[in-house]
Amino acid sequence: MKESLQKIEQALQQELTSCATTSDLLTLRGKYLGKNAEISTLMKSMKDVPAEQRPAMGALIHQTKQALELMLNQAELALKQKELNEKLAKETIDVTIEKPYKEKGSIHPINLELMRLEKILTGMGFSQIDGPEMDYDTYNFELVNVPQDHPARDMQDSLFITKDILLRTQTSNAQPRAMQNIKPPFKVFCAGRVFRKDEIDATHTPAFYQVEGIYIDKKVSMADLKSTITQILKEYLGEGTKTRFRASYFPFTEPSVEVDAVCNVCNGKGCPACKYAGGYEILGAGMIHPKVLELNGIDSNEYSGYAFGFGFDRFPKMRFKIPYAKYMFEHDIRFLKQFK
Ligand code: DAH
Repeated sequence: MKESLQKIEQALQQELTSCATTSDLLTLRGKYLGKNAEISTLMKSMKDVPAEQRPAMGALIHQTKQALELMLNQAELALKQKELNEKLAKETIDVTIEKPYKEKGSIHPINLELMRLEKILTGMGFSQIDGPEMDYDTYNFELVNVPQDHPARDMQDSLFITKDILLRTQTSNAQPRAMQNIKPPFKVFCAGRVFRKDEIDATHTPAFYQVEGIYIDKKVSMADLKSTITQILKEYLGEGTKTRFRASYFPFTEPSVEVDAVCNVCNGKGCPACKYAGGYEILGAGMIHPKVLELNGIDSNEYSGYAFGFGFDRFPKMRFKIPYAKYMFEHDIRFLKQFK
């Protein structure tokens, strides 16, 4: 018996020398300590051993079993360490290797400026809404009081897709959508592209940007409009900005105004910087025509409101001294790269 036990130990030692992986080791563990292992058979045969020899034999088998376990455990530890070392060696990361340079995008000058204005408007309680760039004639014209035969349609050469669908000519198409969907009082703005049939020159492109603001509540007055616009322009163009409100006409507002920023070079007298106009036009605005409120389901006896619309492209042009409007639409990477 003693001999058999020694042989088992030696056999395991022998097999361990050629055991190369932890999964091979698992097989060995089964072979030497499992249910059908030799040592288990010896344990079972204990019942045939004379009673007086049993304690000594039992102790011997137990010792051998412990020795086998120890050998297997040590081998497992060593193999695990070896496998870990191999894995680490294979997965080494060389942090000094140069990666190919990937160019990062930059924010378009129009968006840079829009973000600035959007921040001011949200700071004043306006929520941002979206309007579709392709829209029904109804929203772009009819529901803002520009019916089919209205002379105001001549002011805008539109790009029609079908008889009833066009590329919006103004962000005012957001007005009916807001009025029909939001319960007053509300203050919203919509910023985005509008489209008109225009030849490209220094100041014209067939696509350009507008920002539309709408406020509807009980007892909104021209005084609200004037103070809000003045404040927006002061925050946007600088504290010293002087504004000039001129009477004007828009089909969707009554009364209507156009707002100029007074030229800060000549203080409104007229000079080459403002092309002798004394300032430059910034936006159109006015008190929302009661008819527009009614057309879009708002009771004009209970509510009133103002609306304004900035032509936006001038601001990035002024701020970044961009000489031609078309640069902003050409996607020329050399131009865009400058706005990091
Ligand atoms: N939609 C006008 C345009 O494209 C601008 C405008 C004027 C918008 C007056 C308004 C407004 O909301 O009240 O020329």
